[in-house]
Amino acid sequence: MRDTEIKKRISFLKEELSRHNYNYYTLNNPVISDYEYDIMMHELISLEKEHPEYVTLDSPSQRVGSDLFSVAETGKDVAPKETDSPSGLLPGSFKQYAHKYPMLSLGNTYDPMELYAFNDRIIKSSDKKINYVCELKFDGTAICLTYKNGELERALTRGDGTVGDDVTENVKKIFSIPKTLIEGSGYPYEFEIRGEIYMPYKAFDELNYQRELNEEQPFANPRNAAAGSLKLQDPEEVKKRGLECVLYHIIAPDLNIHTHYELLEAAKSWGLPISEYARINNDIAGVLEYIQVWDTKRKTLPFATDGIVIKVNQLDLQKSLGFTAKSPRWATAYKFKPEEALTKLCSVDYQVGRTGAITPVANLEPVLLSGTMVKRASLHNAEQMNLLDIHIGDYVYVEKGGEIIPKITRVDLEKRDLESHRATFPEYCPDCGTKLVKDEDEAKTFCPNSDFCPTQRKGKFIHFIGRKAMDINAGEATIDQLYSKGYIRELSDLYKLTPEILLTLDKWKEKSVKNFLLSLNNSRNVPFQRVLFAIGIRFIGETTAKSLANKFNNIDALIHTTREELLETDEVGEKLADSIIEYFSDPKHIKIIEELKAARLQFEVKEQNNKIISESLLNKVIMITGTFSIPRDDMKALIEAHSGKVAASLSKNTTYLVAGEKSGDSKLAKAEKLGIPVISESDLINIINPL
Ligand code: IVH
Repeated sequence: MRDTEIKKRISFLKEELSRHNYNYYTLNNPVISDYEYDIMMHELISLEKEHPEYVTLDSPSQRVGSDLFSVAETGKDVAPKETDSPSGLLPGSFKQYAHKYPMLSLGNTYDPMELYAFNDRIIKSSDKKINYVCELKFDGTAICLTYKNGELERALTRGDGTVGDDVTENVKKIFSIPKTLIEGSGYPYEFEIRGEIYMPYKAFDELNYQRELNEEQPFANPRNAAAGSLKLQDPEEVKKRGLECVLYHIIAPDLNIHTHYELLEAAKSWGLPISEYARINNDIAGVLEYIQVWDTKRKTLPFATDGIVIKVNQLDLQKSLGFTAKSPRWATAYKFKPEEALTKLCSVDYQVGRTGAITPVANLEPVLLSGTMVKRASLHNAEQMNLLDIHIGDYVYVEKGGEIIPKITRVDLEKRDLESHRATFPEYCPDCGTKLVKDEDEAKTFCPNSDFCPTQRKGKFIHFIGRKAMDINAGEATIDQLYSKGYIRELSDLYKLTPEILLTLDKWKEKSVKNFLLSLNNSRNVPFQRVLFAIGIRFIGETTAKSLANKFNNIDALIHTTREELLETDEVGEKLADSIIEYFSDPKHIKIIEELKAARLQFEVKEQNNKIISESLLNKVIMITGTFSIPRDDMKALIEAHSGKVAASLSKNTTYLVAGEKSGDSKLAKAEKLGIPVISESDLINIINPL
C-alpha cells in the first residue's frame, strides 16, 4: 500500500472501530460480530505498528471502548436517540466517579500459536518459575466493586476506563453479590474487586420472551441484555432481570498474598462469587489443553463465554510486566471463533422496511447454531447477494453476528447444483409493485412509494405514536391490526377511532381502550416541534424539528417557505431542505396536515401560558443550575407545565437539583451535603415522560 493509502485505511479503521465501540458499549446494540470487530482491530494495530507516525492518542487501539453516554467514542456530546437503542430502552444517566486504578481491557487472539509468543515474552522477562491461571472469559459487562469495612460501598461500570457510572443501587439488587462480607474472614479494610456481570441463558430467554409479548425489541444476546439491564433507572426492575456476577481481579496491595490464584481463593473465603473453573497450569502446553477442553465443554454451560483468559500467576511478575495503555502485559485472552453451520438455502424473501428499504432474507433448512435453531438469515442488500453470487438451493455457511438474525458468510460452491438458478433481486416492490430505486451513494434499494406502500404506511403510524413523537399508548401489533382491519389509512384516522372499534381488537379490554384514548387525547397537547417530527417528513429528526419550529413558529409558515430560507435554519442542510419542499408541494400532504389540524393537534408554537400538561412532577420541588438545551426560562416553564415547583434556592425540601452544563460547583457541593439527588436534563425529561 502507498503511504496515502495506509493513512486512509488507518483513519477508516479508526472511524469504523469507534462507531462499533459506541454501538457495543454505549448502546448495547452491536451491528457486527466480535470476530469482525477483532479482525479490524488487529489490522489497525498491525498497521500502526508498522507506521507509528500515524498513531494518535484517540485511536481505538490506544484506549478502551466507553459505556458512558456523555462522552461517546466520537468525542461528541451525544445523547443516544430512542431509535438507536434496542426497543428504545434507554438507560438513564448515572453519577460518575473516577476509577482509583484504570479499568483496562485485554489483548486477544484467535490463533493458539500466538499464545506461544505470549509465553516467550513472559519467560524472557523472568528467571523464576512461572505458572499461569486459566479462567473462562465470561461474556458480560465489566464491574468494579469497592468494599469498605466489609460493606459494599460502590459499584462502577468500566465507563471509559478512567471514569465509570455509579450503578451501586442496581448492583445491590444482584443476588450473588454480597452486600456484607463474611465477618472475621480476613478481608482488608478497603479493597477493590473487579469482575463481570452476566445474564445466564435462562434469564435471557425469559426476558426476551416477555419483551416480545410487550412488543419491545428483544436483546441480541445475553451480553447486551446484561449491560442494558445494569444501566436501568429502576433497581427493582434490575432485581427481576436474573443477573449474575463472577469476580476475577482483586486489587488489595496490602495483603500478604503472592499469587493471583491465592487471591481468588481468599476472595472466595470472604464470601465473594469466584469462578469454580479457574485452574493453574504450569506451562503453555497445559494452557492449550485447558483451551481445548473448554472449547467444547463451554457449550454445556448455562451462560455465555467468549474465550479463555490466561494470566501470569505470580503477582511480583505481574507488577514488573506492567501495562500498555490499554491492557496488562501479564494477561491475554484466547477467543473462540464464532460458530458457523452449513445448511441449504431454500428461498429468499424481500422484506420492505418502514423506510422503504428492501432487505433480502434467506429462508434456510433449519440448522442448530450456538444452541438455537436457525431458519432465517440476512443477506443485507443486493450488493452482498452479488458478491456471494448466491443461488437458490446452495449450501451456505451461517454465522451469528452482533444482530439477532444470523448472516450468510459464504457459499459451498462444491455442493452447488448446476441446474440451480441465481437469486435475483426484484425490480418491483414485493408489497405494492412500484419500481424500486437505488440511491447511488447508498447500498440499499428502496421502494419510493412512501405514501401508499402498506409496510411504509404502517411504519408512518409506528413512528407517529412513538414516545419521542406523539407518545400514544399502542404498539406495532396494534397498528398492524388497525391497518389490516382497514380502520387506519391516514394519520388523522387515529383520532377517529371509537371505543367500539377498539374493542374489536385482539385482547383489547375496557382498560386498554381507556388508556389508549387517554393518551390519544393527551397527544393533542404535544408541542408543535414534536408534531412536526411525528408526521414523518423524510430527514426531519427530533433536533431539526426543534430548529424548524423555533424559526417558523407554525406549520403554515413552513409550508410557504423557500429553499433559501430553509437553508438559513440551524441544522438544516440541502437534503433536508429539498425533502421539506418536496413534501409540501404534494397536495395529499397538505390534506393530511389539514385533517390533523381538524383533529386539534398543535401546529404552532404555544407561548408557555402556565398550561398544565401533566402531573408527572406533582409535589416535586426542583432547582435548576447551569445551561440547558433550551433557555432557562423555558426549562422553568416546562417544570411548571408538568406540575412541578421551581425553587430559587436549595433546601432540605428540594427534591432534585437539575444540573445543566457549566453548573456551579458550589450548588453541586451543597446538594451533595444536603443529600439532594443531582440529575441531568435528560433525567428530568425521563421523569416527565417515563420510557
Ligand atoms: S481480566 C486487567 N478475567 O473481558 C484485568 N477479564 O475483553 C483485565 N472478562 O475487560 C480483566 N472474563 O470485562 C479478566 N476471567 C476474566 C474475564 C475477563 C471476562 C472481560 C473483562 C475484560 C474483557 C476483555
